[in-house]
Amino acid sequence: MTEKVVINEVGPRDGLQNQPRVLAPEQRLQLIRALVKAGLPAIEVGSFVSPRAVPAMAGTDAVIAGLPRDDIYYSALVPNQKGYELAKTSGIKAIGSVIAASNTFNEKNIRMSSAQALAVVLDLIVQSRRDGIDSLVYLSTAWECPYEGPIESRGVMALAEQVFAAGATEVIIADTIGAADPAATAALMTTLVCEFGAARLTCHFHDTRGMALANVYAALQCGIRKFDASIAGLGGCPFAPGASGNVATEDVALLLQQMGFATGIDLARLVEAAELALELTGATGGGHSLRWLQRQREQGRLRSDKMPPSI
Ligand code: COA
Ligand code: ZN
Repeated sequence: MTEKVVINEVGPRDGLQNQPRVLAPEQRLQLIRALVKAGLPAIEVGSFVSPRAVPAMAGTDAVIAGLPRDDIYYSALVPNQKGYELAKTSGIKAIGSVIAASNTFNEKNIRMSSAQALAVVLDLIVQSRRDGIDSLVYLSTAWECPYEGPIESRGVMALAEQVFAAGATEVIIADTIGAADPAATAALMTTLVCEFGAARLTCHFHDTRGMALANVYAALQCGIRKFDASIAGLGGCPFAPGASGNVATEDVALLLQQMGFATGIDLARLVEAAELALELTGATGGGHSLRWLQRQREQGRLRSDKMPPSI
């Protein structure tokens, strides 16, 4: 049987949060509908953060109210108690809380020390368990911090240990500034997989140095079967200087399909979603494979992976 890999689409959150053009909730929904049509089984649809800190994410409640279908694994990012309450009211079934492996990044990103951020994350895990909401936890700057430099894996392990002990559903190991390379990816992910198993770990790579897809491959070799990716490679954190977009969904989907993994994704429709993302945001570019995929589509050669979205 074909082995399954889940792509969690983060374009509607990580992809849009840093765009100069702020999209209205209906435009964000238009993008989400295109992603659903393309077969993405999991989508991070927005964040409940201060609209002053991140204007592009204002109106996430309206986005959630308009979401199509109920068989997609939708999640939203939540940095604090206020965000949690808004998320709970919205009816979303999974939240992603955030803690960086470096103190300075926690201070810049969410204006908390690492100790404060950990206390908040642990508390949100307990509350979400009680409320029947899945609790995903982003461990950001897991390889390198834009302010403090390289991060020791011991710190990442200790954080993962604590959030799993509190009952986190899943931990997302995030290369927030795109500084990891395949060797560093393999080193950290091997240790994490040995300790916690691959099933509860996701990897989240940015492509700042062009190594994101190589890092996906390295993590795949370690047994990771869930990856964040952003349509058209949009993305970046407003509080991480120099960081560029996420690994592009079309690149990860093509890599996986070509290697024989099942993703449930229809590449022709994914290309349409990438084109829509570029049109709505006014961004240029797209994933490394987008031009090639567009040519294949013109020649009627894009395959559809028949496995239905099944999360
Ligand atoms: N959602 C909406 N509004 C929020 C909020 C949330 N989760 N948390 C706080 N606010 C509002 C407060 O109500 C307050 O509004 P007011 O000034 O109108 O009364 C204002 O934001 C400041 O609140 P405060 O608790 O002092 O927050 P802060 O200024 O210390 O900022 C965060 C902390 C976490 C809210 C802010 O840094 C943030 O939103 N960061 C998000 C970072 C992000 O999205 N990074 C990318 C993804 S990792
Ligand atoms: Zn990111």
